[in-house]
Amino acid sequence: MLDIKITKNTAPKAKPADESKLGFGKIFSDHMFLMDYTDGQGWHDPRIVPYAPFPMDPATVVFHYAQELFEGMKAYRSVDNTIQLFRPECNAQRMQDSSDRMCIPQVPVDDFVQAVKALVELEKDWVPHSDGTSLYIRPFVFATDVGLGVHASKHYTFCIICAPSGAYYAEGINPVRIYVEDEYIRAAPGLTGFTKCGGNYAASIKAGELAEQKGFAQVLWLDGVEKKYVEEVGSMNIMFKIDGKVYTAACTGTVLPGVTRRSCIELLRDWGYEVVEGPLAIDDVMKAGHEGKLEEVFGTGTAAVVSPVKELDWKGDKVFINDGKIGPLTQKLYDTMTGMQWGKVPDTKGWIVPVCKG
Ligand code: COI
Repeated sequence: MLDIKITKNTAPKAKPADESKLGFGKIFSDHMFLMDYTDGQGWHDPRIVPYAPFPMDPATVVFHYAQELFEGMKAYRSVDNTIQLFRPECNAQRMQDSSDRMCIPQVPVDDFVQAVKALVELEKDWVPHSDGTSLYIRPFVFATDVGLGVHASKHYTFCIICAPSGAYYAEGINPVRIYVEDEYIRAAPGLTGFTKCGGNYAASIKAGELAEQKGFAQVLWLDGVEKKYVEEVGSMNIMFKIDGKVYTAACTGTVLPGVTRRSCIELLRDWGYEVVEGPLAIDDVMKAGHEGKLEEVFGTGTAAVVSPVKELDWKGDKVFINDGKIGPLTQKLYDTMTGMQWGKVPDTKGWIVPVCKG
């Protein structure tokens, strides 16, 4: 159990007046959680302090060698005004799994969850009220040694910040266009594709920018070896409903093990759908599209929730999905996930973790 020292912000900011204009991750709340790690001492000095910039030496390891990780979670204001989290222990566990690969000391799962709850409770007035909004929570950990040698750092900081947010995509729940990337790759066996390290996202920006210039919301990554099998989309996992079955890439090291992904798979199986986690060739997706068997395509992610895809474009070949409309299964998943998160439907899975009254 952490002994978290709280120093309150004496100059709190005004809360956003118009929640319809929140966007995603643009405004930050009044406080942040911090905890330091020193080799030989472990994690120490857990504290909540006013949100502020970090004074950092220009030679700090994270600036040069990107030894860092992040997570993405949300706090929701339910219809009965309870502030609640969705499976926070899954994020804590995923950060531990990623930490091992990045040689970053693990934050114990209970400490991670306690820190998130303590910060969210203090920031409860920052959890927005409008439909479709939430307090996006961004835990991250980074190397703080000063020096240019390429080694695992001996010092780290774990930080959590919060951003009242609306939908991730400007399109909201409206279906997006996705460009199938055939030049750049995101991951390959043995690399860091399964971790939430910033480097994965840095390496993805170029393809994302090019796709945006062509009018697409994001890119769909193919596997890094053969550029043949579908893996994931820029900020979400992706699922394909073909001829009644749902297909998604397996988590074998190159795909992010998404919390929303695994929750949707559990729900789909509860509802009697066959979900195939394994290799799915882009050729087969496009073929299914042309034969009218590609019934629905949707992304899953904390930020993106459940996000319908209306078009895939691969080397100039295009398939259009469900006449550009959200499909019934995508809608049911969206309604069930957000229904549980906002307390509108019963949490039959034990996924919701209440924090406090709003
Ligand atoms: C999330 O869904 O929480 C993410 O971390 C995606 C992010 C890169 C926007």
